[in-house]
Amino acid sequence: MQKIEIEGGARLKGEVFISGAKNAALPIMAASILASGANRITNTPQLKDISTMGELLSRLGIGFESSGDEVILKTDSISSVEAKYDLVKTMRASVLVLGPLLAKMGKAVISLPGGCAIGARPINLHVMGLQKMGAEISLSEGYVKVSAKRLKGADIHFDVPTVTGTENIMMAAAIADGVTVIENAACEPEVVDLANALISMGAEIQGAGTGVIKIKGVKLLKPLDYKIIPDRIEAGTFMAAAGITRGSLVIRGCNPAHMESVTDKLRQAGLQIEQKDDVLKVKCSGKLNPVDIKTMPYPGFPTDMQAQFMALMAVSEGTSLISEHIFENRFMHVAEMKRMGADIQVEGSTATVRGVRSLNGAPVMATDLRASASLILAGLAAKGKTVVDRVYHLDRGYEKIEKKLKPLGAKIRRIK
Ligand code: EPZ
Repeated sequence: MQKIEIEGGARLKGEVFISGAKNAALPIMAASILASGANRITNTPQLKDISTMGELLSRLGIGFESSGDEVILKTDSISSVEAKYDLVKTMRASVLVLGPLLAKMGKAVISLPGGCAIGARPINLHVMGLQKMGAEISLSEGYVKVSAKRLKGADIHFDVPTVTGTENIMMAAAIADGVTVIENAACEPEVVDLANALISMGAEIQGAGTGVIKIKGVKLLKPLDYKIIPDRIEAGTFMAAAGITRGSLVIRGCNPAHMESVTDKLRQAGLQIEQKDDVLKVKCSGKLNPVDIKTMPYPGFPTDMQAQFMALMAVSEGTSLISEHIFENRFMHVAEMKRMGADIQVEGSTATVRGVRSLNGAPVMATDLRASASLILAGLAAKGKTVVDRVYHLDRGYEKIEKKLKPLGAKIRRIK
């Protein structure tokens, strides 16, 4: 089991380049199922989740190659319609092959993703949408089996805006017969990126980025040749790193327009942030102010930045209320931060964070992707040494984070 060791106290300084967005790359890779031929995706982050999706697609008969930030997916023939538990249990985003496989092959057999550290993570809304489009659904032995001779366009209303649910239905509807309207659709930039990728393949989609998306099915889609948007959560994590270490960073290759709720809250916390084109200049010299946040669907404050923001508030000069409205159990990082001296009380879906002068390094354990990032941030600011265990969570979502932090002055290394 690999660990990351950090000697805290260094103020980060310098420039960092943001990688492509994992949560845009995953659905766009799944969209390769819809088009025969060679699909090319660039600005893809080099992450475990990307290779897991590649492995899943290759088991369906799609040729997967990756070199650097380029992924090639050769969809000549689909030889299987099954996504097995052994892969799905490591990455719930595997559910993203459900919609395209059903639309293209008329059948799909996907292991139910099961819960994960942050909550039950059901897919009932994905299934409801496909049923409305004419799919027969059956559940057995932990697998969901869907089949449909021909998917038909339908009006689908989601109780809650589900990101991958919206993406699954959008991909299925792209080659269904007729028009599909998704109401209460997710508006995340990653959903818009998938829509743009599908449009570049010949799909007819309007309204992506709003709560109502209209998809007119077409007969055929051509292969992808598409560049992924930058990762707004990685960029937000580095902004928080500049804040917590009282450093100054130039963050390049990001899209500030995707991060306004995060930038706004970080400015309230006392960070000086300038944005121009694809560059964010972030610095923090003085004290950190306490700021309350509520995680909400986009364009609200993203749940994927909640743990990182909490690390920042743990060393602010006051009390902040952090409430998590998306997932039912996304405070696992609290117990670990308290071991480092943070003063945090959780009551239901709200954490009360009383800032302390400084945290102390300690051995801590990562529990989910974004929680592990928050422990790295806490370690950067803490007095003494922090060792973060189970960093495989980190590697799922952050491309070589210690290689990006070290040139900025962080005393950080990976240990076996
Ligand atoms: C996506 O997960 C992201 N993953 C998550 O990022 C992100 O935290 C989440 O959206 C929220 O923004 C990918 O895009 C691969 P949801 P997803 O469906 O789609 C409930 C990361 O760190 N719900 O938008 O699984 C659900 O329980 C990951 O990269 C249903 O009830 O999230 C949750 O409370 C973590 N039934 C809420 O909706 C359903 O059928 C939002 O979940 C689907 C969802």
